[in-house]
Amino acid sequence: MSHRIYLDYNASTPICPEAAEAMWPFLTDHYGNPSSLHWAGMPAKDAVEKARGQVAGLLGCDPTEVVFTSGGSESNNHAIKGVFFANRDRGDHIITTAVEHPATINPCRFLEMLGAKVTVLPVDRFGMVDPTDVRKAITQRTILITVMHANNEVGTIEPIPEISAIAREAGVPFHTDAAQTVGKIPADVEGLGVDLLSVAGHKVYAPKGIGALYIREGTKIEPFVHGAGHEAGRRAGTENVLLAVALGAACDTARKWVGMPQIKALRDRFWDGLRGMFGEKVTLNGHPTARLPNTLNANFVGRVGAEVLVKLPRVAASTGSACHAGSVILSPVLAAMGVPPGEGMGAVRFSLGRATTWDELEEALAKLKFSVETLEVDRGDRR
Ligand SMILES: Cc1ncc(COP(=O)(O)O)c(C=O)c1O
Repeated sequence: MSHRIYLDYNASTPICPEAAEAMWPFLTDHYGNPSSLHWAGMPAKDAVEKARGQVAGLLGCDPTEVVFTSGGSESNNHAIKGVFFANRDRGDHIITTAVEHPATINPCRFLEMLGAKVTVLPVDRFGMVDPTDVRKAITQRTILITVMHANNEVGTIEPIPEISAIAREAGVPFHTDAAQTVGKIPADVEGLGVDLLSVAGHKVYAPKGIGALYIREGTKIEPFVHGAGHEAGRRAGTENVLLAVALGAACDTARKWVGMPQIKALRDRFWDGLRGMFGEKVTLNGHPTARLPNTLNANFVGRVGAEVLVKLPRVAASTGSACHAGSVILSPVLAAMGVPPGEGMGAVRFSLGRATTWDELEEALAKLKFSVETLEVDRGDRR
Protein backbone atom coordinates (compact mmCIF):
# COMPACT_ATOMS: atom_id res chain seq x y z
CA MET A 1 0.00 0.00 0.00
CA SER A 2 1.23 3.51 -0.80
CA HIS A 3 1.07 5.98 2.07
CA ARG A 4 1.12 9.73 2.10
CA ILE A 5 4.48 10.85 3.42
CA TYR A 6 5.10 14.34 4.77
CA LEU A 7 8.68 15.55 4.43
CA ASP A 8 8.03 19.28 4.32
CA TYR A 9 8.23 20.34 7.96
CA ASN A 10 10.28 23.42 7.02
CA ALA A 11 7.26 24.62 5.04
CA SER A 12 4.84 24.04 7.90
CA THR A 13 4.20 21.68 10.79
CA PRO A 14 1.06 20.06 12.12
CA ILE A 15 -0.44 21.65 15.25
CA CYS A 16 0.86 19.73 18.28
CA PRO A 17 -1.73 18.28 20.70
CA GLU A 18 -0.63 20.64 23.48
CA ALA A 19 -1.33 23.70 21.31
CA ALA A 20 -4.70 22.35 20.16
CA GLU A 21 -5.71 21.60 23.74
CA ALA A 22 -4.64 25.05 24.93
CA MET A 23 -6.86 26.68 22.30
CA TRP A 24 -10.08 24.85 23.12
CA PRO A 25 -11.28 27.00 26.07
CA PHE A 26 -10.73 30.08 23.90
CA LEU A 27 -12.90 28.63 21.15
CA THR A 28 -15.69 27.96 23.61
CA ASP A 29 -15.75 29.71 27.00
CA HIS A 30 -13.28 32.59 27.08
CA TYR A 31 -14.36 35.19 24.57
CA GLY A 32 -13.58 38.34 26.54
CA ASN A 33 -11.30 41.10 25.34
CA PRO A 34 -7.95 40.95 27.17
CA SER A 35 -8.13 44.72 27.66
CA SER A 36 -11.44 44.47 29.58
CA LEU A 37 -11.04 44.64 33.32
CA HIS A 38 -14.11 42.48 34.13
CA TRP A 39 -14.59 38.72 34.65
CA ALA A 40 -14.72 38.00 30.91
CA GLY A 41 -11.56 39.89 30.04
CA MET A 42 -9.34 38.70 32.85
CA PRO A 43 -8.90 35.03 31.79
CA ALA A 44 -8.05 36.21 28.29
CA LYS A 45 -5.45 38.66 29.59
CA ASP A 46 -3.96 36.04 31.90
CA ALA A 47 -3.76 33.55 29.04
CA VAL A 48 -1.95 35.98 26.74
CA GLU A 49 0.56 36.81 29.48
CA LYS A 50 1.10 33.14 30.31
CA ALA A 51 1.75 32.47 26.62
CA ARG A 52 4.18 35.38 26.44
CA GLY A 53 6.06 33.83 29.35
CA GLN A 54 6.17 30.47 27.56
CA VAL A 55 7.62 32.03 24.40
CA ALA A 56 10.13 33.93 26.54
CA GLY A 57 11.02 30.66 28.28
CA LEU A 58 12.07 29.09 24.99
CA LEU A 59 14.01 32.16 23.87
CA GLY A 60 15.59 32.82 27.27
CA CYS A 61 14.38 36.41 27.53
CA ASP A 62 12.07 38.49 29.67
CA PRO A 63 8.37 38.22 28.74
CA THR A 64 8.22 42.02 28.33
CA GLU A 65 10.62 41.61 25.39
CA VAL A 66 8.18 39.42 23.40
CA VAL A 67 5.66 40.92 20.95
CA PHE A 68 3.06 38.67 19.34
CA THR A 69 2.81 39.04 15.57
CA SER A 70 1.00 37.26 12.74
CA GLY A 71 4.07 35.16 11.83
CA GLY A 72 7.62 35.19 10.58
CA SER A 73 6.99 37.68 7.77
CA GLU A 74 5.45 40.23 10.07
CA SER A 75 8.19 39.77 12.66
CA ASN A 76 10.86 40.44 10.04
CA ASN A 77 8.95 43.44 8.69
CA HIS A 78 8.53 44.85 12.18
CA ALA A 79 12.21 44.40 13.03
CA ILE A 80 13.62 45.79 9.78
CA LYS A 81 11.24 48.67 9.14
CA GLY A 82 10.82 49.47 12.82
CA VAL A 83 14.56 49.83 13.43
CA PHE A 84 15.03 51.78 10.19
CA PHE A 85 12.26 54.29 10.98
CA ALA A 86 13.41 54.76 14.57
CA ASN A 87 17.06 55.36 13.63
CA ARG A 88 16.86 57.59 10.58
CA ASP A 89 18.64 60.35 12.45
CA ARG A 90 21.63 58.02 12.92
CA GLY A 91 21.92 56.62 9.39
CA ASP A 92 20.37 54.71 6.53
CA HIS A 93 22.56 51.66 5.94
CA ILE A 94 21.36 48.07 6.36
CA ILE A 95 23.51 44.93 6.03
CA THR A 96 21.95 41.64 5.02
CA THR A 97 22.87 38.48 3.07
CA ALA A 98 22.18 36.91 -0.29
CA VAL A 99 20.39 33.88 1.19
CA GLU A 100 17.67 35.57 3.26
CA HIS A 101 14.01 34.67 2.96
CA PRO A 102 11.90 37.06 0.86
CA ALA A 103 10.37 38.19 4.18
CA THR A 104 13.73 39.89 4.83
CA ILE A 105 14.85 40.74 1.30
CA ASN A 106 11.64 42.51 0.33
CA PRO A 107 11.33 44.80 3.38
CA CYS A 108 14.94 45.84 2.61
CA ARG A 109 14.03 46.47 -1.03
CA PHE A 110 11.03 48.50 0.10
CA LEU A 111 13.21 50.61 2.38
CA GLU A 112 15.58 51.27 -0.53
CA MET A 113 12.68 53.17 -2.11
CA LEU A 114 12.65 55.33 1.03
CA GLY A 115 16.36 56.05 0.84
CA ALA A 116 17.95 53.06 2.59
CA LYS A 117 21.30 51.78 1.34
CA VAL A 118 21.40 48.00 1.52
CA THR A 119 24.55 45.87 1.42
CA VAL A 120 23.87 42.25 0.48
CA LEU A 121 26.75 40.04 1.63
CA PRO A 122 27.77 36.96 -0.34
CA VAL A 123 27.89 33.43 1.11
CA ASP A 124 30.31 30.56 0.53
CA ARG A 125 29.61 27.25 -1.22
CA PHE A 126 27.81 26.01 1.90
CA GLY A 127 25.60 29.06 2.23
CA MET A 128 27.59 30.55 5.10
CA VAL A 129 28.35 34.22 5.63
CA ASP A 130 31.85 35.24 6.66
CA PRO A 131 31.68 37.41 9.83
CA THR A 132 34.70 39.39 8.63
CA ASP A 133 32.60 40.48 5.63
CA VAL A 134 30.07 41.85 8.09
CA ARG A 135 32.79 43.76 9.92
CA LYS A 136 34.11 45.22 6.66
CA ALA A 137 30.64 46.30 5.52
CA ILE A 138 29.84 48.36 8.65
CA THR A 139 30.01 52.12 8.16
CA GLN A 140 29.23 55.16 10.32
CA ARG A 141 25.73 55.08 8.81
CA THR A 142 24.90 51.42 9.50
CA ILE A 143 21.74 51.15 11.59
CA LEU A 144 20.83 47.47 11.23
CA ILE A 145 22.39 44.10 10.49
CA THR A 146 19.97 41.30 9.65
CA VAL A 147 21.28 37.76 9.09
CA MET A 148 19.09 34.68 9.29
CA HIS A 149 19.80 32.08 11.97
CA ALA A 150 19.43 29.14 9.58
CA ASN A 151 18.45 28.97 5.96
CA ASN A 152 15.05 27.51 5.11
CA GLU A 153 16.14 25.79 1.89
CA VAL A 154 19.48 24.21 2.75
CA GLY A 155 19.48 24.45 6.55
CA THR A 156 22.91 26.06 6.93
CA ILE A 157 23.31 27.63 10.38
CA GLU A 158 24.93 31.06 10.23
CA PRO A 159 27.66 32.12 12.72
CA ILE A 160 25.27 34.35 14.65
CA PRO A 161 27.28 34.69 17.92
CA GLU A 162 30.34 35.81 15.95
CA ILE A 163 28.32 38.34 13.97
CA SER A 164 26.50 39.63 17.05
CA ALA A 165 29.84 40.27 18.78
CA ILE A 166 30.88 42.41 15.80
CA ALA A 167 27.53 44.22 15.75
CA ARG A 168 27.70 44.93 19.47
CA GLU A 169 31.24 46.26 19.25
CA ALA A 170 30.11 48.64 16.50
CA GLY A 171 26.92 49.59 18.38
CA VAL A 172 24.66 48.41 15.56
CA PRO A 173 21.33 46.63 16.32
CA PHE A 174 21.34 43.02 15.12
CA HIS A 175 18.28 41.07 13.98
CA THR A 176 18.10 37.39 13.17
CA ASP A 177 15.29 35.57 11.39
CA ALA A 178 14.96 32.43 13.50
CA ALA A 179 11.79 31.15 11.79
CA GLN A 180 13.55 27.88 10.95
CA THR A 181 15.51 27.36 14.15
CA VAL A 182 13.19 27.96 17.09
CA GLY A 183 12.34 24.51 18.48
CA LYS A 184 14.95 22.77 16.30
CA ILE A 185 18.25 24.03 17.72
CA PRO A 186 18.96 26.35 20.68
CA ALA A 187 17.71 29.83 19.84
CA ASP A 188 18.55 31.48 23.12
CA VAL A 189 18.82 35.23 22.66
CA GLU A 190 21.69 35.63 25.13
CA GLY A 191 23.70 32.81 23.57
CA LEU A 192 23.09 34.29 20.14
CA GLY A 193 23.67 37.85 21.36
CA VAL A 194 20.94 39.30 19.17
CA ASP A 195 18.78 42.40 19.72
CA LEU A 196 15.82 41.19 17.67
CA LEU A 197 14.73 37.66 16.75
CA SER A 198 11.79 36.49 14.62
CA VAL A 199 9.66 33.44 15.43
CA ALA A 200 7.14 31.80 13.05
CA GLY A 201 4.49 29.79 14.91
CA HIS A 202 3.61 27.35 12.16
CA LYS A 203 7.21 26.09 11.95
CA VAL A 204 7.13 25.14 15.63
CA TYR A 205 3.87 23.11 15.73
CA ALA A 206 1.60 26.10 16.45
CA PRO A 207 -1.08 27.25 13.96
CA LYS A 208 -0.44 29.46 10.97
CA GLY A 209 -1.01 33.19 11.48
CA ILE A 210 0.88 33.63 14.75
CA GLY A 211 4.48 34.48 15.48
CA ALA A 212 6.57 36.58 17.80
CA LEU A 213 9.33 39.14 17.71
CA TYR A 214 11.89 39.33 20.49
CA ILE A 215 12.96 42.94 21.04
CA ARG A 216 15.80 43.41 23.51
CA GLU A 217 14.94 46.01 26.12
CA GLY A 218 16.29 49.40 25.11
CA THR A 219 16.23 48.71 21.33
CA LYS A 220 15.00 51.77 19.44
CA ILE A 221 12.13 50.61 17.24
CA GLU A 222 9.03 52.20 15.74
CA PRO A 223 5.70 50.40 16.44
CA PHE A 224 4.53 48.18 13.61
CA VAL A 225 0.82 48.94 13.88
CA HIS A 226 -0.15 52.32 15.28
CA GLY A 227 -3.32 52.45 17.34
CA ALA A 228 -4.18 51.70 20.95
CA GLY A 229 -1.57 50.56 23.43
CA HIS A 230 -1.62 46.80 22.90
CA GLU A 231 1.62 44.83 23.13
CA ALA A 232 3.22 47.63 25.16
CA GLY A 233 2.40 50.08 22.37
CA ARG A 234 4.41 48.16 19.77
CA ARG A 235 1.60 46.48 17.83
CA ALA A 236 -1.90 47.84 18.15
CA GLY A 237 -4.98 45.65 17.83
CA THR A 238 -6.89 43.35 20.16
CA GLU A 239 -4.64 40.39 20.85
CA ASN A 240 -5.21 37.10 19.02
CA VAL A 241 -5.78 35.21 22.26
CA LEU A 242 -6.58 31.91 20.58
CA LEU A 243 -3.38 31.76 18.60
CA ALA A 244 -1.20 33.31 21.28
CA VAL A 245 -2.11 30.53 23.73
CA ALA A 246 -1.36 27.97 21.03
CA LEU A 247 2.06 29.48 20.37
CA GLY A 248 2.79 29.54 24.09
CA ALA A 249 1.92 25.85 24.50
CA ALA A 250 3.87 24.95 21.35
CA CYS A 251 6.97 26.78 22.62
CA ASP A 252 6.68 25.02 25.96
CA THR A 253 6.49 21.65 24.24
CA ALA A 254 9.32 22.53 21.85
CA ARG A 255 11.76 22.80 24.75
CA LYS A 256 12.00 19.03 24.94
CA TRP A 257 12.59 18.66 21.20
CA VAL A 258 15.43 21.17 20.78
CA GLY A 259 18.49 19.46 19.29
CA MET A 260 16.35 16.75 17.64
CA PRO A 261 18.84 13.84 18.00
CA GLN A 262 16.36 11.21 16.79
CA ILE A 263 15.30 13.29 13.81
CA LYS A 264 18.92 14.00 12.89
CA ALA A 265 19.72 10.28 13.02
CA LEU A 266 16.82 9.56 10.64
CA ARG A 267 17.90 12.37 8.33
CA ASP A 268 21.47 11.03 8.17
CA ARG A 269 20.23 7.50 7.50
CA PHE A 270 18.05 8.84 4.70
CA TRP A 271 21.07 10.59 3.17
CA ASP A 272 23.10 7.35 3.40
CA GLY A 273 20.22 5.62 1.62
CA LEU A 274 20.25 8.21 -1.18
CA ARG A 275 24.02 7.95 -1.60
CA GLY A 276 23.80 4.18 -1.60
CA MET A 277 21.22 4.31 -4.37
CA PHE A 278 22.54 7.13 -6.55
CA GLY A 279 26.24 7.44 -5.63
CA GLU A 280 27.81 10.57 -7.13
CA LYS A 281 24.54 11.32 -8.93
CA VAL A 282 23.19 12.83 -5.73
CA THR A 283 24.95 15.74 -4.03
CA LEU A 284 24.29 17.68 -0.86
CA ASN A 285 23.41 21.37 -0.61
CA GLY A 286 24.23 23.22 2.57
CA HIS A 287 26.82 22.83 5.26
CA PRO A 288 27.84 19.23 6.02
CA THR A 289 27.73 19.77 9.80
CA ALA A 290 26.50 23.30 10.67
CA ARG A 291 23.05 22.47 9.40
CA LEU A 292 19.52 22.11 10.80
CA PRO A 293 19.18 18.55 12.13
CA ASN A 294 15.98 17.89 10.15
CA THR A 295 16.95 19.31 6.76
CA LEU A 296 18.33 17.51 3.73
CA ASN A 297 18.59 19.37 0.45
CA ALA A 298 19.82 17.02 -2.26
CA ASN A 299 20.55 17.53 -5.95
CA PHE A 300 19.47 14.75 -8.27
CA VAL A 301 22.16 15.55 -10.80
CA GLY A 302 20.92 15.96 -14.36
CA ARG A 303 17.25 15.91 -13.28
CA VAL A 304 14.80 18.71 -12.49
CA GLY A 305 13.69 18.77 -8.85
CA ALA A 306 10.09 19.71 -9.67
CA GLU A 307 9.84 16.78 -12.10
CA VAL A 308 11.24 14.36 -9.54
CA LEU A 309 8.49 15.46 -7.16
CA VAL A 310 5.71 15.32 -9.74
CA LYS A 311 6.43 11.62 -10.03
CA LEU A 312 6.03 11.25 -6.27
CA PRO A 313 2.52 12.60 -5.70
CA ARG A 314 2.24 10.98 -2.28
CA VAL A 315 5.50 12.41 -0.97
CA ALA A 316 5.29 16.03 0.20
CA ALA A 317 8.68 17.76 -0.19
CA SER A 318 9.87 21.04 -1.75
CA THR A 319 12.01 22.22 -4.57
CA GLY A 320 13.57 25.62 -4.96
CA SER A 321 13.80 25.36 -8.73
CA ALA A 322 10.90 27.14 -10.37
CA CYS A 323 9.61 26.55 -13.87
CA HIS A 324 9.02 29.73 -15.84
CA ALA A 325 7.76 29.53 -19.40
CA GLY A 326 9.25 26.12 -20.01
CA SER A 327 12.68 26.87 -18.62
CA VAL A 328 13.92 26.07 -15.14
CA ILE A 329 15.28 28.81 -12.91
CA LEU A 330 17.78 27.90 -10.22
CA SER A 331 16.73 28.82 -6.68
CA PRO A 332 18.29 32.21 -5.74
CA VAL A 333 19.73 30.62 -2.58
CA LEU A 334 21.53 27.90 -4.54
CA ALA A 335 22.64 30.48 -7.11
CA ALA A 336 24.12 32.63 -4.31
CA MET A 337 25.97 29.55 -3.05
CA GLY A 338 27.46 29.00 -6.48
CA VAL A 339 25.85 25.58 -6.96
CA PRO A 340 26.35 24.66 -10.64
CA PRO A 341 22.99 24.89 -12.47
CA GLY A 342 23.32 21.31 -13.79
CA GLU A 343 23.27 20.14 -10.17
CA GLY A 344 21.04 22.71 -8.49
CA MET A 345 18.15 22.33 -10.97
CA GLY A 346 17.71 18.88 -9.50
CA ALA A 347 17.46 20.10 -5.90
CA VAL A 348 14.78 18.70 -3.61
CA ARG A 349 14.42 19.72 0.03
CA PHE A 350 13.34 17.00 2.43
CA SER A 351 12.57 18.30 5.91
CA LEU A 352 11.75 15.83 8.65
CA GLY A 353 9.68 16.33 11.78
CA ARG A 354 8.42 14.80 14.98
CA ALA A 355 6.18 12.24 13.28
CA THR A 356 8.71 11.05 10.67
CA THR A 357 9.51 7.32 10.84
CA TRP A 358 12.18 5.17 9.19
CA ASP A 359 9.41 3.16 7.45
CA GLU A 360 8.26 6.34 5.73
CA LEU A 361 11.77 7.26 4.70
CA GLU A 362 12.41 3.78 3.34
CA GLU A 363 9.23 4.03 1.28
CA ALA A 364 10.27 7.48 0.06
CA LEU A 365 13.66 6.09 -0.98
CA ALA A 366 12.02 3.36 -3.05
CA LYS A 367 9.72 5.88 -4.73
CA LEU A 368 12.64 8.21 -5.42
CA LYS A 369 14.58 5.43 -7.07
CA PHE A 370 11.68 4.82 -9.40
CA SER A 371 11.12 8.53 -10.07
CA VAL A 372 14.74 9.45 -10.72
CA GLU A 373 15.51 6.43 -12.85
CA THR A 374 12.47 6.83 -15.07
CA LEU A 375 12.98 10.54 -15.70
CA GLU A 376 14.69 11.60 -18.83
CA VAL A 377 18.08 13.14 -18.26
CA ASP A 378 17.63 16.89 -18.06
CA ARG A 379 18.36 18.40 -21.43
CA GLY A 380 20.65 21.29 -22.19
CA ASP A 381 17.74 23.37 -23.52
CA ARG A 382 16.15 23.33 -20.07
CA ARG A 383 19.16 24.73 -18.28
C1 LIG B 1 13.45 31.68 7.17
C2 LIG B 1 12.01 32.12 7.07
N1 LIG B 1 11.69 33.36 7.40
C3 LIG B 1 10.43 33.82 7.33
C4 LIG B 1 9.42 32.99 6.92
C5 LIG B 1 8.02 33.53 6.85
O1 LIG B 1 7.23 33.04 7.92
P1 LIG B 1 5.65 33.11 7.88
O2 LIG B 1 5.20 32.11 6.89
O3 LIG B 1 5.24 32.76 9.29
O4 LIG B 1 5.28 34.50 7.53
C6 LIG B 1 9.69 31.67 6.57
C7 LIG B 1 8.65 30.78 6.05
O5 LIG B 1 8.86 29.97 5.20
C8 LIG B 1 11.04 31.21 6.65
O6 LIG B 1 11.38 29.96 6.34
